[in-house]
Amino acid sequence: MSDDYGFLAPIYQLISRSVFGRDLIYANQAFLEGIAGKKILIIGGGDGVAYREFRENVQGEYWDLSAKMTQIARQNLAGSSLSVQSGAWPGTGKFDRIYLPFVLDTLADDEISLLLSKIKDALLPKGEVVVSDFFEPVGLKQRFSQIAMIRFFRISTNHRRKDLPRIPQLLVKAGFILRQEKIWRKGWIKSQLYGIS
Ligand SMILES: C[S@@+](CC[C@H](N)C(=O)[O-])C[C@H]1O[C@@H](n2cnc3c(N)ncnc32)[C@H](O)[C@@H]1O
Repeated sequence: MSDDYGFLAPIYQLISRSVFGRDLIYANQAFLEGIAGKKILIIGGGDGVAYREFRENVQGEYWDLSAKMTQIARQNLAGSSLSVQSGAWPGTGKFDRIYLPFVLDTLADDEISLLLSKIKDALLPKGEVVVSDFFEPVGLKQRFSQIAMIRFFRISTNHRRKDLPRIPQLLVKAGFILRQEKIWRKGWIKSQLYGIS
């Protein structure tokens, strides 16, 4: 099976930090505080670096499509009660909270809608979803950077989109309601916590 993020996986943090400092790490970590004792699912967690400092307090499942990303995540999350799996989440299990860190922008709109519907079915009562991702860029510099970033990922990871998904609209259409959000870079990067309406 092809591994779209296999080439980038060993240098992903280097690239991310040289462009965004620790902001993408902070966005991956958003809404993880106070999660001890709850069952979580992380889809598209990448190399697991962002979750390393939480590894002793988290339990549940961790899925990433990239074999190389998963291999690195297993090292970073050694000793954690998270079960780290390579591949697409099969839609099984029940969770208190499901995290989607910078993964929705890699999917087509219809794939996002299908995933959100499976996620809705997998939430325990009062369950929540955390989406961390890129939103509407603010100002020319961010707009150009966004275009350059998409081009870079289209070449290096077989990224299929040419634009950003309209995440809030897709979540609302799937029956979720926004409860809280944290923002970085004037709102270009956000972590949003959604419940079920
Ligand atoms: C842009 S990277 C983000 C990685 C990490 N969350 C971070 O911010 O450092 C997207 C990740 O999502 C994974 N991915 C893409 N589609 C996926 C899917 N359907 N299920 C699981 N992982 C997926 C990719 O393999 C990649 O590791």
